[in-house]
Amino acid sequence: SQDHLSKDERIQEICTILESSIDYYNWVGFYFKNGDKQELKLGPYVGEPTDHTIIPFGKGICGQVAVSNQNFVVPDVSAQDNYIACSITVKAEIVIPIFVNGENIGQIDIDSNTPDPFSVDDERFLEFVCKEVAKLL
Ligand code: SME
Repeated sequence: SQDHLSKDERIQEICTILESSIDYYNWVGFYFKNGDKQELKLGPYVGEPTDHTIIPFGKGICGQVAVSNQNFVVPDVSAQDNYIACSITVKAEIVIPIFVNGENIGQIDIDSNTPDPFSVDDERFLEFVCKEVAKLL
C-alpha cells in the first residue's frame, strides 16, 4: 500500500521510475497551471535543477502546450525558435498535456540528451502516465 504517500510524493516517485527505467529520459518533471494565473509552475521532477520554475503560457515548449492542448515532440531542440533551454546537454524534448474533466491542467515534460529519441510509442505510453497522474490529482 502507498496510502502514506502524498500526491506530490507519488508524482515524485513516477518521475524517479521514468528517469531510472528509460535511458533516454534524462530530466523528467511535471508542470501544473498556477491557480488562475496565465503561467505554469514546476512540480515534482528528477534531474538537474532548473531556473524555469515558472513558465508563462505561450513561452517555450511547455508554455505552448499549455495553450495548444496537444502533445509536442521536439526531435532537435536547436531547431526550435520558441524554446527555453534548461541545460546545454539537452538534445530533444517531449511534452504531453494532462487533462482533468477535459481541461488541460498541466503536463509531463521530458528532456533527453539523445538526439531524436522519442517515438509514437513514447507518446502513447506518456499519455497513459498522464491519465494515471490525473487520477491522483
Ligand atoms: N525546455 C522547456 C523548459 C522546461 S525545461 O526543459 C525543464 C521549454 O522549452 O518549455
